[in-house]
Amino acid sequence: MGDLGEGLSRYHKQGFCSFHTPGHKGRQEFFNDFDFIGFDLTELPGLDMLHSAQGIIAKAQKRSAEIFGAEETFFLINGGTVGNQAMFLTLEDTVDKRVVVERCSHRSVMSALVLSGLKPEYVMPTVHPEFNLPLGFEVEKQRIPWQEVSACHVTYPSYYGTGFKMNSLLEERTRLGVKTPILVDQAHGSHYLGPLFPPNALKLGADLVLHSSHKTLSALTQSAMLHVQGRRVSRTRLRQSLELLQSSSPSYLLLASLERASEFALDFGRWECLRDEVEVLHRKVGMSFRILSQADIGKNGIHTVDWSKILINTSPLGITAPRCVEYLRENCGIEPELWDEENILFMLGIGNTPEDIRRLTKGLESFASFAHSAGFVETKMQVEKERFRIPTLPPLMLSPREAFFAHKRQIPLKESLGHIVGETISPYPPGIPVVVMGEQMTCEVLDALLDAREGRWQGWDGFKNQTIWIVEE
Ligand SMILES: Cc1ncc(COP(=O)(O)O)c(C=O)c1O
Repeated sequence: MGDLGEGLSRYHKQGFCSFHTPGHKGRQEFFNDFDFIGFDLTELPGLDMLHSAQGIIAKAQKRSAEIFGAEETFFLINGGTVGNQAMFLTLEDTVDKRVVVERCSHRSVMSALVLSGLKPEYVMPTVHPEFNLPLGFEVEKQRIPWQEVSACHVTYPSYYGTGFKMNSLLEERTRLGVKTPILVDQAHGSHYLGPLFPPNALKLGADLVLHSSHKTLSALTQSAMLHVQGRRVSRTRLRQSLELLQSSSPSYLLLASLERASEFALDFGRWECLRDEVEVLHRKVGMSFRILSQADIGKNGIHTVDWSKILINTSPLGITAPRCVEYLRENCGIEPELWDEENILFMLGIGNTPEDIRRLTKGLESFASFAHSAGFVETKMQVEKERFRIPTLPPLMLSPREAFFAHKRQIPLKESLGHIVGETISPYPPGIPVVVMGEQMTCEVLDALLDAREGRWQGWDGFKNQTIWIVEE
């Protein structure tokens, strides 16, 4: 079968209970009558064309638009990633303009800056003091130069399911009477339909909204949707951008899975029974762990909390999150979505069952008893906790695109003051870059990097030998 196939087979046989993407959780019921070999086709007579859809693909996209409340929907076969990239390439009137982006946006947004050549106007998220993660965003505290930007790109909800006051952002645009498009990365909120979840960004009035449909709905991995409404973005340009970025041989398996996922998204009952079990989980283990909950709304820039993302902090038990993950994997067969030193994210999808959540609740209860019996205490972790202070934004000397294509060399970190940095470096958590390629190395950033401890740095090629990539000037 080969190494890759064998690796997949070995993993699958372990039978983990999934609290990660994809949202179908491996359940056959979403793919009944779905002929995986027979449907793996190309653009043949009667099968329409993704880049000029007029037949069966157009019909399926139209139906999805109806379901999610868009004027038009485009199926994507290169994940939410291509949606973020297409959003920026679609923008017109971009000469000498910037685009508002959150400093902790997903890397596909950063790659969209490289592809489009747009310069970023960063806005800062609010880092939650207990979770040490960028869970909030305070619109009122931001200075958005509406007249000087081509668009405002925001992430709603965050990876962890928190949402900011999106309606305040939209109201501000209306109040100022500007036409700036608002582009929303709703990758983690494709399931925002019906009364159980926060309102979706289309309903609130955003212009372009991205869904990574495979994350929480039943679509196959890599399938996503880009929804559009209104006249602030050119549909022609959007079509052209998607054609430029996406494969000329789109997978019909992915496309057909998107069609089905849209219909399943209307089955709110599947989520209702999960919500009830999540409430039980909060009641049973909420005293042992710090769990993000509805009680966090209204604080630290958090306006909505999606109960289907279970974010737990293990600090109250005085034991690290990786130790908890190891315990849950080995003793309970539970696989989370992601974790850091103190937090674990369990992500529910439409394919989870109440039984899965009961298994998670039991696993967490059993881990809490283990931690107590092994004598772990909260205070120990409090002392060891290291909080990273994000330095002031460094001056932007080159756009991410200019920096990406520039000639670069590696130099000793301690000699880098004043140079233009050639890589993007983030401590995780909280995952907010201290420096992005194209920015100048400042004293404050340099001090933070010189103080850096092992194990928490992303994107830093020369961490071990204390070097850094800089742009040749
Ligand atoms: C906020 C956010 N946006 C976009 C993406 C990209 O989506 P995809 O993995 O479907 O390409 C991700 C992926 O994790 C994400 O977290």
